[in-house]
Amino acid sequence: MQLPKTGSFEIAPSILSADFSNLESEIAQMTAEGIQIIHLDVMDGHFVPNITFGPPVVNWIRKSTDAVLDTHLMITDPQKYAPAFIKAGSDHITFHIETVDKPVEFVKYLHDQGVTAGVTLNPKTPVGTIEQVAPLCDMVLVMTVQPGFGGQSFMDDACRKCTQIREWVGPDVRIEVDGGMGPATITVACGYGADTFVAGNAIFGKTNRAVAIAELRQALTV
Ligand code: DX5
Ligand code: ZN
Repeated sequence: MQLPKTGSFEIAPSILSADFSNLESEIAQMTAEGIQIIHLDVMDGHFVPNITFGPPVVNWIRKSTDAVLDTHLMITDPQKYAPAFIKAGSDHITFHIETVDKPVEFVKYLHDQGVTAGVTLNPKTPVGTIEQVAPLCDMVLVMTVQPGFGGQSFMDDACRKCTQIREWVGPDVRIEVDGGMGPATITVACGYGADTFVAGNAIFGKTNRAVAIAELRQALTV
């Protein structure tokens, strides 16, 4: 599957807050609500102080859904591990600018492998670090929390980077925001030019996920 064309708002549920013993049904609940992008948070306990999962889990998820597997690599050496994630079925790979010396070349490599590419940056990383590579990406990810954990508070200053990035990339590249999204903050991020919204706790922290998704979508229409 490919990222939806620009021009739509998309909610990208992060399975970080899902029930990992029931991932297939958790993801099926999302796609039943029309979700097209599933956000996969890969953490290595080195670039971030937490560990999640690797390619074998992505491989099993791939077998259970046709949704776009949006793979956010919070790992020290994404160039070493990207091939394994691509082989496992990732459709889109996002790497951190802090971890790659030659990001333009890495984006070209990802495209050559048949996946779409994204770059992201930590809240404290200056936006200028991605000026050259951002327009080459299919989706730029803006971290609105310090990566590592779900359920943190949205950082407005970090989110403002979307405005500058939108000027650089134009309308044909998605801008995704990640961290602390809920009905109030999603509206703020939309105002700064984001069109793709990662939500972990705001969906999987709720008993009724359909209502949670509907509330997020409602916040984008007002
Ligand atoms: C943070 C992850 C996020 C996280 C978002 O390190 O990259 O994708 O799952 O979680 P919430 O929506 O709960 O802030
Ligand atoms: Zn993420």
